[in-house]
Amino acid sequence: MATAATATITTDLREEILRLKEERNAVILAHNYQDGEIQDIADYVGDSLGLAYKAKETAADVIAFCGVHFMAETAKIINPEKTVVLPDRDAGCSLEQSCPGPDLERFLTEHQEKNYYVIAYINCSAAVKALSDCICTSGNAVKIVEAAPADRPILFVPDQNLGAWVMERTGRKMDLWQGACYVHVEFTRESIAKIKAEFPAAAVVAHPECTYAVRMLADEVCSTEKMVQFCRDSPAHDIIVVTEAGMLHRLRREVPGKNLIPGPTEHCACSECRFMKMNTLEKLHDCLRDLAPEVTMPEEIRVRAELPLLRMLELSR
Ligand code: 13P
Ligand code: SF4
Repeated sequence: MATAATATITTDLREEILRLKEERNAVILAHNYQDGEIQDIADYVGDSLGLAYKAKETAADVIAFCGVHFMAETAKIINPEKTVVLPDRDAGCSLEQSCPGPDLERFLTEHQEKNYYVIAYINCSAAVKALSDCICTSGNAVKIVEAAPADRPILFVPDQNLGAWVMERTGRKMDLWQGACYVHVEFTRESIAKIKAEFPAAAVVAHPECTYAVRMLADEVCSTEKMVQFCRDSPAHDIIVVTEAGMLHRLRREVPGKNLIPGPTEHCACSECRFMKMNTLEKLHDCLRDLAPEVTMPEEIRVRAELPLLRMLELSR
């Protein structure tokens, strides 16, 4: 329980963050999986797609990106003139790690005859984006795949589960990179069936990074942003939310009065992304004060990665 002393420290810290934000002419962007106290101080909280649009539109000089590295890197790719900082430089992503740039480059060279149209889920490095034709997020993947040239085979990287879900939705066959999110594959058919047995009338909403067996149990499969709309519109009072636990903070704030239940795994009542949780209010304060850790990349990679990102932003308007 928070004591009076810790409450004062947090209030002081929040005030100091807001002061530094003014001083730096900064904007604070936060992903839906961030801790509640970070979501509450952010200028905007959203999914990868919404955050990319906000990063593109901002007039601030500094973007303090409370999310994981590939998200901050995306903001930098489309904003080369701005300073982009990430509270913890080690906030990575298991999907990004599953597809190193050199491995993708080698695969494309070895399969040159295929003339692949490469669609990269935004959860990847700038090096992978630079090798891609178009980027997608969970919020627009169906649209992006539908807009792909019909006469070229698609290679979808790096998430096999999102890729499989898009194939089910579009009927378009794709070759899938075998990456996965370590958080979402923790949910199992059994763990979701068990909580469903406790709340038989509950609706189930799941992220497309979940496995096929879990997606099959869901009433809706969608991005984190679309989960807000689903929970608002659903007639169900009980809703099981099968994604990273930080999502529950946003949902409880915006959809009060409903019983929002985190999806459990075999071992835990909910599932947390250790990378997302590396960011803290203290680190946010320090990165605004020091303008570090700063996200940078070689200009040659940035320029090549920008094209498929801008194509995505254009196609998903
Ligand atoms: P969203 O774009 O749906 O928020 O997903 C990002 C993510 O990292 C999911 O694990
Ligand atoms: Fe990456 Fe999974 Fe964490 Fe999302 S939840 S940032 S996909 S590791």
